[in-house]
Amino acid sequence: MTTPNKARDRLRIAIQKSGRMADVSQDLLARCGLKFRQSRDKLFCFGESMPIDLLLVRDDDIPSLIAQGVCDLGIVGRNVLAEQSLAAVEGTLPVVELCALDNSRCRLSIAVPQDMDYNGPHQLQGLRIATSYPALLGAWLAEHKVEAKIVFLAGSVEIAPKLGTADLICDLVSSGATLVANQLREAVVILESEAVVAGPQTVPPDERGDLRELLLRRIDGVIQVRESKLVMLHAARANVDAIRKMLPNGQMPTLLPIEGSEQVALQAVCYGAITWQHLEDMKRAGASQLLVLPVEKILA
Ligand code: PRP
Ligand code: ZN
Repeated sequence: MTTPNKARDRLRIAIQKSGRMADVSQDLLARCGLKFRQSRDKLFCFGESMPIDLLLVRDDDIPSLIAQGVCDLGIVGRNVLAEQSLAAVEGTLPVVELCALDNSRCRLSIAVPQDMDYNGPHQLQGLRIATSYPALLGAWLAEHKVEAKIVFLAGSVEIAPKLGTADLICDLVSSGATLVANQLREAVVILESEAVVAGPQTVPPDERGDLRELLLRRIDGVIQVRESKLVMLHAARANVDAIRKMLPNGQMPTLLPIEGSEQVALQAVCYGAITWQHLEDMKRAGASQLLVLPVEKILA
């Protein structure tokens, strides 16, 4: 086990250097108020606004960098984290999912040739399955008491059936285009994945622990904000109850008197989409002056 750098008092986050999660990760951290100066080798970014630095790496390396104590947090696909947690090296820190980011959604699925029927796991008995996720697939097969041969491939898994090196595959599916292009059909989902924040199960007992908690709270705020709207409207006090019930996932609204009017102004933060239908329903229930505004920051 690599000894964690004892002198380190700055938090270090590992994110994907390039690929589908790279931009999502950079954007999330920027929204959390972090600014970085990029080094010449573009692997390490020094945090200018807070003592939080970035390491830009291959996504497959993120769980082990955390497990070895080289990084304190990482943004990685649940698929990569789950695979490596199953195959974790003894003596390293257990790495867990701290927060799901509802981004870069995909699924790890078993896919079969289009002309093959799939009526259940038993049908896979004795077949060869190509995958880059041997631990997750192995666990699924064991759970379903199926003995199949796992053929490990680091990439281009989808062409294995065509090449005859496997009968079917277990790979990531997002739009499904890759499967269609290779005459394959998704048979069963074994893991729903999305981008997650990963970190050691135990919080570091120093400043880095505080920084980690602060950053996780900001990330929660950023996620909430994405889906939040501020709704403002005017209504007679007698209609407020009925209108309030129409607000999607609305918190307790704030009511303010309107100078020289019998009416009150209502404002509420709502989570989820606010449709024209919502607004029309509220208007019928007595609301007027309806406004829906984006929310930029939330700190509850
Ligand atoms: C994944 C997966 C498929 C493709 C599926 O590859 O291995 O090839 O995405 O996406 P689709 O359903 O939208 O077609 P990725 O892009 O991660 O590249 P890699 O396999 O080279 O890692
Ligand atoms: Zn990949």
